This record gives sequence, structure tokens and C-alpha cells, in this order.
Amino acid sequence: MSIFYQIRREYELSGLSEQDLTESPFQLFDRWLQQTMQIKEISDPTAMIIATVNEQGQPSQRTVLMKAATDSALVFYTNKNSQKGQDLTTNPNISAIFPWLAAERQVIFQGKVEPLSEQENDAYFYSRPFSSQVAAVISQQSQTISSRDELEQKYHHALAEHPTEKIQRPSHWGGYRINCHSVEFWQGGEYRLHDRFIYRKKGQQWQVSRLQP
Ligand SMILES: Cc1cc2nc3c(=O)[nH]c(=O)nc-3n(C[C@H](O)[C@H](O)[C@H](O)COP(=O)(O)O)c2cc1C
Repeated sequence: MSIFYQIRREYELSGLSEQDLTESPFQLFDRWLQQTMQIKEISDPTAMIIATVNEQGQPSQRTVLMKAATDSALVFYTNKNSQKGQDLTTNPNISAIFPWLAAERQVIFQGKVEPLSEQENDAYFYSRPFSSQVAAVISQQSQTISSRDELEQKYHHALAEHPTEKIQRPSHWGGYRINCHSVEFWQGGEYRLHDRFIYRKKGQQWQVSRLQP
């Protein structure tokens, strides 16, 4: 057994107080995201880990890139036949976390997904480099495959079939809007007395409370 009792550090970069809070959590999230983008140790500031739950009640998690934030929702794109896509078809509940550890911060969202429109899916799909479009078309995301070779053959075959760099977006490739009903901000603090604030949506209003660390 390996023991990691000694791996610990102090959290003292900053604090989060009542004066810092905004009316909507998305205003505070945007402020934190802008700050995170300036921190060179955080390489993928828009990466979030999303958790979904399957029909048997088994949770699973994976990283995706957040591609848009509105004043009440986050957007990401994926293959809807994937494991996460199947989970979300039967259970639209989702949780997303931005683990901005170098900033001693995390933000946790909870909500329900809603699929984006075909126009929204096309708008993002065709904004991607052609090579990424081809990869999205040939990958049956989350299915098994016998070798790397087979994957590359599928990719090069599709490239050769589309010399004009025009390819149809598969109908199962698209985005989800996470309509959020709770957002928690965590800022590491001295003596393990971290600052935590949770926003909960009540009707159209957000109510915010401080949580114990
Ligand atoms: C930094 C990073 C960004 C990623 N972005 C996405 C993404 O935006 N969409 C996506 O479907 N998968 C993305 N992935 C891959 C997923 O983590 C995951 O492997 C894939 O979506 C299949 O997940 P599933 O089998 O649980 O459905 C990303 C992985 C990493 C590490």
C-alpha cells in the first residue's frame, strides 16, 4: 500500500466574501473564468468534468470542453451515441465541475440537459477544423475497436472520400445545454476554512448561501 498522508498544502491565494458575490452565479463564473485564463499553469481553463448516471444508477465522469456559457446555462458538444449520450437520454441530470486547482478554486454546476437545435449543432460542427469533423464522423465514440490501425484506416478512408473538404455532420453528433439549478463556488482558505457559496435557483431568482467547508 502507498500512503499519501504527507501530500498537502496550504490554500492562501485569495478569499471569497459576501462582497464578491454577483446577482447571478454566471456573472461570478465569468469573472473567475477570465481570471483563470490568465493563469499559465491552468492549460485548459474551459475543460469541465461532467458526471452522468446510467439506467442502473452507476455514475461516470469524463472531461469535455465547455463551448459557451449563457446567463443560465453551459454548452458542450459530443457524440450522442456515446456512453454519456446514452446516459443523458434516460436521465438528463448532470453535474459539471471546473477543477481550477492552481487557482485554489472549483466551481460545481448541477442541472438538466436539453439538446441543442440542428442549426446550433451545424454552426459549431462546421466551425471546427476539417480534420476534427472527419474524426467526429468516423468515431463511434465509446464503442470498442480492435486496433489503432483500424481507427486510422477509417480516418484516411473518409479523408480520401471527401477531397473537397465537405462532409455531412452525423445526426448523432451535437451539443447539450446544461440548464443549471445550482452553482457552487469554492475558494481554498487558510486553516482549511475554505469559502463556499452555493447559488440555488428559486423560480427566476437565485438565492445564495454560505456553506461550511
Ligand atoms: C481535455 C479534454 C477535452 C475533451 N473534450 C471533449 C469534448 O468536448 N467532447 C467529447 O465528446 N469528448 C471530449 N473529451 C473526451 C472525453 O473525456 C471522453 O473520453 C469521451 O467523450 C467519451 O466519453 P464517454 O464514453 O463517457 O461518453 C475530452 C477529453 C479531454 C481530456
